[in-house]
Amino acid sequence: MTVFDVIKSRKSIRKYSTKDIEDEKLNIILEAGRLAPSWQNKQCWRFVVVKDKEKIHQLALKSGLISKANFFIKDAPVVIVVCANPKESGFMNGQHYYLVDTAIAFQQMVLTAYEMGIGSCWLGAFNEEKVKQILEIPENIKVVALSPFGYPSEKEGLYGKVIKAFAGSKRRKSLEEIVHYEKW
Ligand SMILES: Cc1cc2nc3c(=O)[nH]c(=O)nc-3n(C[C@H](O)[C@H](O)[C@H](O)COP(=O)(O)O)c2cc1C
Repeated sequence: MTVFDVIKSRKSIRKYSTKDIEDEKLNIILEAGRLAPSWQNKQCWRFVVVKDKEKIHQLALKSGLISKANFFIKDAPVVIVVCANPKESGFMNGQHYYLVDTAIAFQQMVLTAYEMGIGSCWLGAFNEEKVKQILEIPENIKVVALSPFGYPSEKEGLYGKVIKAFAGSKRRKSLEEIVHYEKW
């Protein structure tokens, strides 16, 4: 598969089989994040890899913004929490670049995983304090995103179907709507 093939076929997975991710594959996913470009190459990111079932259950039941919104991550064998030390990145034009650095790294991980048949689902809706509490993340560190990683379940769950319909997940704006040539 080319990079573009992976980009075209990737989709968010919200139901996982309980099959473990092989250690070599997990390491390749982490390497894909490690090799990302970043502000002045400062590499502000830190990745918390959670495999402990009890901790994953706590994240599933307590990390959501609304009730148990992230319950679907409970069966995933691994959850990766992407954190950043903002002091190791830049701030310019009103923009915090730790968000850019970590987003690039995480997407590299997501795509690399997908190429190996491993699904994920970027979660931006989470209670940062709860996540920090569960994983003992220090005060000065920001939690940017988290995602379950695991082999997709053969059948898509109802929750995934509902979220996909709500978000219109298959829809993308056309190039005409988003590209300006030469000037805005
Ligand atoms: C920054 C960001 C935050 C997101 N937060 C959530 C989330 O909290 N819960 C969820 O189920 N999906 C979340 N998603 C997944 C999006 O809903 C999904 O990427 C979008 O609907 C397109 O679908 P696809 O990933 O299957 O192509 C998030 C995606 C991004 C990039």
